[in-house]
Amino acid sequence: MPFDYQLLMKIAILSRGPQLYSTQSLVRAGMERHHEMHIVDHARCTLVVGRGRPQIFYGDYALPRFDAVIPRIGASVTGLGATVISQFEMMDAFSAVRPEALLQSRDKLRCLQKLARCGIEVPRTVAAVPGQDIMPLVNSLGGLPIVIKMLESTHGVGVILAESFHTAESVIEAFQRKGERLIIQEFIGEARGADIRALVVAGEVVASMERRAKAGEFRSNLHRGASAEAVELSPDEEVLVKKAVKLMGLDVAGVDFLRSRRGPLIMEVNASPGLEGIEGITGADVAGRIIEFVEQRVRERRHFQSNTRK
Ligand SMILES: Nc1ncnc2c1ncn2[C@@H]1O[C@H](COP(=O)(O)OP(=O)(O)OP(=O)(O)O)[C@@H](O)[C@H]1O
Ligand SMILES: [Mg+2]
Repeated sequence: MPFDYQLLMKIAILSRGPQLYSTQSLVRAGMERHHEMHIVDHARCTLVVGRGRPQIFYGDYALPRFDAVIPRIGASVTGLGATVISQFEMMDAFSAVRPEALLQSRDKLRCLQKLARCGIEVPRTVAAVPGQDIMPLVNSLGGLPIVIKMLESTHGVGVILAESFHTAESVIEAFQRKGERLIIQEFIGEARGADIRALVVAGEVVASMERRAKAGEFRSNLHRGASAEAVELSPDEEVLVKKAVKLMGLDVAGVDFLRSRRGPLIMEVNASPGLEGIEGITGADVAGRIIEFVEQRVRERRHFQSNTRK
């Protein structure tokens, strides 16, 4: 296909780690399509609003207008990241992730609430409040074992399987003393330490893999030594995954689900999914698909703007 030079874009990847695989993969995919790619650290942006045009300063330097931004916002700076995305939008850039959608998906409890409210099956979950009796909580989940999760956990670090009531009680108490917000879930034992990660871009599943925990471990995080391989989703799973992403208001997302006796149960919809594992394991060019999605949206906007000017 001949290259359309009218489509050339100035794109900023919002990332705190220029060397990270996902950042580099997006930069490479953009450059392969001849776009001007920049990496902007959202934590170094100074946002200026009011009296005149909105601006973003990067040190002493006022950032130029970008056609699009692709946010890669880490969990520890979600709020800040959302305000930076809004500022880029005020400066007329298209963002691959809307700030409200980022905020909503980052809060695991709100994410599960939203999905459940819209009829999507999730593991039975309770939000634990400090000082509560643990026994009724455990009973409301159908008994032991249970999975205790710190709401701010990533890479499986704050995710614990409690097989006895005594363990459940002491773990919950210890975390709550430290001020951690917790959710507690029924344990989906029949998943046998495996979960599925599906990557969705622009309403299509572009890659999916099954992650399998190493022996003696129930968490299937690659960071916890799990192995992974490409997997096909069933038609029902594909419909479900796409629906979950749409409900969360996202166009680019990673969806994690467990295969349970009562069908797929969604654990999380992630607005900044890592690309390294999934691209390496499935061979899919996820970054390329993200750039193509951004191209499509920018093209639509330009078309719309030139028509409204006529
Ligand atoms: N209710 C559950 N039943 C069985 N296994 C579970 C359950 N919840 C989590 N797991 C296993 O533990 C792993 C880690 O849990 P989870 O994905 O919720 O936390 P995390 O990986 O720390 O968070 P994030 O995905 O945001 O990085 C999952 O990938 C899954 O293999
Ligand atoms: Mg996870």
